[in-house]
Amino acid sequence: MIQPAAPDLVTVNIDGREISVPKGTNVIEAARRVNVDVPFYCYHPKLAVVGNCRMCLVEMGTPAVDPATKAPVMDPATGRQRINWSPRPAIACATNVSPGLHIRTTTQMVKDCREGVMEFLLINHPLDCPICDQAGECKLQEQATGYGRGYSRFVEQKNVKPKRTLLGPRVMLDDERCILCSRCIRFSKDVAKDDVLGFTDRGSYSTLTCYPGKKLENNYSLNTVDICPVGALTSTDFRFKMRVWFLKQTNSIDTESSVGANTVVWSREGAIYRITPRQNDAVNDTWMADSGRLLYKQVRDPSRLVGVLVNGAESALDFAVKAAADLLKAGGVAVVGSGRSSVEEQFLTRKLAEASKADAHLVSRVGKGDGLLISEDRNPNVRGALVTGLIASLPSPGLGSLGARIDAGEVRTVVSVGEDLGEAGLTPAQLSAVSVIYLGTHANATSGAARVVIPTLTVFEKDGTLVNQQFRIQRFSRAVPGAGGATDDLVVLARLVAAAGGPVLGADVASLWPAIAAEVPALGTMSHASLPDTGLLIDPAPWEALPFVEGPSLHYRPAGQREAARG
Ligand code: SF4
Ligand code: FES
Repeated sequence: MIQPAAPDLVTVNIDGREISVPKGTNVIEAARRVNVDVPFYCYHPKLAVVGNCRMCLVEMGTPAVDPATKAPVMDPATGRQRINWSPRPAIACATNVSPGLHIRTTTQMVKDCREGVMEFLLINHPLDCPICDQAGECKLQEQATGYGRGYSRFVEQKNVKPKRTLLGPRVMLDDERCILCSRCIRFSKDVAKDDVLGFTDRGSYSTLTCYPGKKLENNYSLNTVDICPVGALTSTDFRFKMRVWFLKQTNSIDTESSVGANTVVWSREGAIYRITPRQNDAVNDTWMADSGRLLYKQVRDPSRLVGVLVNGAESALDFAVKAAADLLKAGGVAVVGSGRSSVEEQFLTRKLAEASKADAHLVSRVGKGDGLLISEDRNPNVRGALVTGLIASLPSPGLGSLGARIDAGEVRTVVSVGEDLGEAGLTPAQLSAVSVIYLGTHANATSGAARVVIPTLTVFEKDGTLVNQQFRIQRFSRAVPGAGGATDDLVVLARLVAAAGGPVLGADVASLWPAIAAEVPALGTMSHASLPDTGLLIDPAPWEALPFVEGPSLHYRPAGQREAARG
């Protein structure tokens, strides 16, 4: 007899192996835990189950009980409870585990089912894998190899369906490839809350389309491309640009708001081709916003700063550091740090402020949240600035206190770490009243007016960590080499700290972390190298009373709402 499971666990038997899984687990996920592959198309762990592709058919059986007494019926040959096998296969995605459920995935019946489903799916599918953009990540191709018949009996004419239909500004549909799994429809309706897609016509003529007068143009539209199991939906930005097997994958973080969606950056030979979401069930599930996928374009933007400048003339980095040090040592310094900088950079920015006896400021960036994966705080790392001690309270809009100190003649030099001070709130008169040392990636009014300009790296060209709205510290890694002429922010900041009379600190993430762990209590037990890919939560208690601007989003509730939820 099958062994009873612990409370809230259910014991099932999959291909002869017993496993205990949480109640409510479906058979696909239960099988995955014992490394049994149940192929599927329409099922997606983050979407509602509809059971329309039938690829996940398996054999199921339940322990036999006497209908009258409800006592187990034993098999005298084995001494175990007899299993009543269903004469028909059942879909694994829509079946949740029940005590004693038996599953068979390797029988002839299951094999025949899979071959039959594959044959039906391939009848009208163009077999043009060599020219299909999905090649290399196509579930149909992979499962045809693993579970298909291996040859086609279809000699009739294939259906012709619409080609190159723009569903919206970023998503293209090649309808003849669609296997009608409805993942894109469910995502749009249930996750993006934009009920825009549906099927028209019947049978082989079923066609995916937008409802009349609507377009797939919400800021999450490209997630449909990610979850389309075949090459029907493609990104207009990435489509036919590069074969995926040539691309290197690097873990990163979406920096467009404090949500900190986990991402993968796909690059080849120093060029980034696309950004896709990386699963983190505590942050972004398997989704990300379209706007975050385009951030890589900043790497090769023509406005990129590529030369060190001192008083407008090209210079060497050593000379620029010396010129900056002279300004810093003259006193009357203020430092404007950035909520876009990494934890490591913010730690060094704090050290720079300390060494220069300067006030530290941070630029506030607040916008409208969408309740999903774009939060109201458009800085990805304000929490990092609090945790590292760069700032003690939340930044207020406009850099008002800095402006007042400049007007009073108390500040004569401003160090800006990547922030356009004019855009942040200083007036042209205030800007021209101070000497600016600008560390940044792109040209702007501040870099144009600065005495010293040192080009630095974008988030895609360096390593570091960010603390998101949940106080989850998450790592991002270098995907491509830095632009020519740009220097790692950590190198520049560490040199400025030392030049201003501060300590000599590590100029890369690995060598800086011992100092961070020693001086930042909230990070004292951590190390950069040992952070898991899904990040670690920092105890938010010291900052929880601060009036953070974020409202609720996918996996975040503001502190007051969390307490209310706890009851
Ligand atoms: S376009 Fe892709 S995701 Fe949408 S129904 Fe067709 S196969 Fe499924
Ligand atoms: S995965 Fe499509 S029916 Fe189960």
